[in-house]
Amino acid sequence: MNAVAEAPIETAAPLMPLRRTQRTARPAQRIVLTGFMGSGKSTVGRLLAESLGWDFLDLDDVIAERTGMTIPQIFTERGEAAFRREETAALAAVLGRTRVVLALGGGAPETLGNRLLLEQTPATAVVYLEAAFRTLAERCALQALDPAATARPNFADATLAEQRFRMRHPLYARLATARVDTTALEAQEAAQAVRRSVPGLSR
Ligand code: S3P
Repeated sequence: MNAVAEAPIETAAPLMPLRRTQRTARPAQRIVLTGFMGSGKSTVGRLLAESLGWDFLDLDDVIAERTGMTIPQIFTERGEAAFRREETAALAAVLGRTRVVLALGGGAPETLGNRLLLEQTPATAVVYLEAAFRTLAERCALQALDPAATARPNFADATLAEQRFRMRHPLYARLATARVDTTALEAQEAAQAVRRSVPGLSR
């Protein structure tokens, strides 16, 4: 029997997520923005990173860079399940970074492994950017008019998108250490609201 097989089972790292208070007990080293498509994660995240003097990362960009494919290409050529596997690998790869604002893709919290990664990484604030579905749909429709914008395969059908929104809302809410309602906020106001929602950041 080799040493790994003989190791007592108690030495395995516990898979219990850290409680919310434990997760924010230390000043945040990374701020993760979560929320549905159109919630402003990338726009707000960039502004927030700028105001903190931190780096900004968009998880979709990390995936595109790692795979050499665009997000719609991955969905079309390899399917959503393959996209989700790339998403988890990309998240694990970037969570070691410090002084970083990370915008997740809207579907990242659907994967249990992603939620555990986020909950178990200390000094990680997760902020849910909330808005009503109608507002999110309007923002996505506006963004889709921009020829430079990346298409959103999971917003192609508004009815299915609304079902996904209803299914995901409790996941976003449970994962978050703070929530910011962005419905009536400009991007810069939302960035400042996120900043205020994270304890222990120097002003
Ligand atoms: C997705 C959201 C997208 C992107 C992919 C799938 C989703 O990110 O990850 O198209 O399932 O909600 P944004 O939330 O940044 O649009």
